[in-house]
Amino acid sequence: MKIISVIGARPQFVKAGPLSKALRRAGHHEVIVHTGQHYDAAMSDQIFADLEIPAPDYNLDVRSGSHGAQTGKMLAALEAVFQDEQPDLVIVFGDTNTTIAAALAAAKLHQKVLHIEAGLRSFNRTMPEEVNRVLTDHCADLLFAPTDTAVENLAREGLAHRTYRVGDIMVDSLMDRLEIARERSDILERIGVEEGTYYLLTLHRPYNVDDPQRLGAMLDALGRLGSPVVFPAHPRTRAVLEQHHIAVPDTVHLLEPQGFLDFVRLEHGATKILTDSGGVQKEAYILGKPCLTLRPETEWVETVEAGWNVLADPEADGFADLVASFQPEGPQPDLFGRDVAEEMVRCIERVMDAPHIACADAR
Ligand code: UD1
Repeated sequence: MKIISVIGARPQFVKAGPLSKALRRAGHHEVIVHTGQHYDAAMSDQIFADLEIPAPDYNLDVRSGSHGAQTGKMLAALEAVFQDEQPDLVIVFGDTNTTIAAALAAAKLHQKVLHIEAGLRSFNRTMPEEVNRVLTDHCADLLFAPTDTAVENLAREGLAHRTYRVGDIMVDSLMDRLEIARERSDILERIGVEEGTYYLLTLHRPYNVDDPQRLGAMLDALGRLGSPVVFPAHPRTRAVLEQHHIAVPDTVHLLEPQGFLDFVRLEHGATKILTDSGGVQKEAYILGKPCLTLRPETEWVETVEAGWNVLADPEADGFADLVASFQPEGPQPDLFGRDVAEEMVRCIERVMDAPHIACADAR
């Protein structure tokens, strides 16, 4: 089969890594298209290198812009690539502007679309990602849902007949790279923190970072936690910090965005993880790290129900106590599966000729 994988933003590189390997192992012809939504070396090239993803066949170099301008540029450029390549299947990942642009371009050309990480919902339409997810799911022919909740969400929207429960591809990315990260990464020595003594922080959601007052107040609260906080800052966050001269407390180690191996090493060595990223919540769960999600809602409700993730607001009273006291107990249910990439390839091969069969648990 000729399959186009469309990626453009950091979390998509992480998801595409293991699937690309599995598709090629199975003898499929994969064409990688990078939209260029993320373009800094640390956000893109280093992640490709760390996950051993082949160089993209196309780089559309779209870069930043307003949502409409960025998505529109991608739509036009992707349409031209899809027309030239005439793939059997277009694969899109997650919920970024790259995802909706690719799904829409392919659907308009009557090319088959597979959405990986389908069915996630925050039920918060002010998030650009929520709009992207809902529309992508409704454009796509095949929906690979990572969790039972995602399967239920899709069924509620009348999409059960296109849905397959195949596990979460990020398990493979993490499990494949964890040992290598522990062996090769010297990030802890380089930044001078010791294993098991620090919190790891990521923040990039517009809701948290675009308002300088909120960002400043959050950092203030995070600086008063009593333990070092390691903070690899997304370019969006860094730009607000610099533009508004927001003071970063001494206990917060502000870093550049990290490559995948260094970031996994930081996750593995942290006592707890504080984040507004969807992917990082999942990685925390898989690594058995308590996670505090700095958002009013999460798409990964199973991790909260299992007791390993809690929603928290740094501006709320009692935040420091919550961070200090949050300690999950008991076993962790297997929420996300294992060897997911191979399972996905088998599922693609099985259903491509008969895509509209009833919702199946492919595991
Ligand atoms: C995007 C995704 C989000 C995902 C996140 C992960 C959308 C709507 N959002 O958010 O779902 O969780 O990526 O990182 O697609 N920038 C750089 N260098 C880069 C990339 C971005 O400086 O390599 C700057 C841009 O100038 C822009 C800002 O970061 O101002 C935001 O980038 P953008 O791609 O619009 O969205 P993200 O916030 O990264």
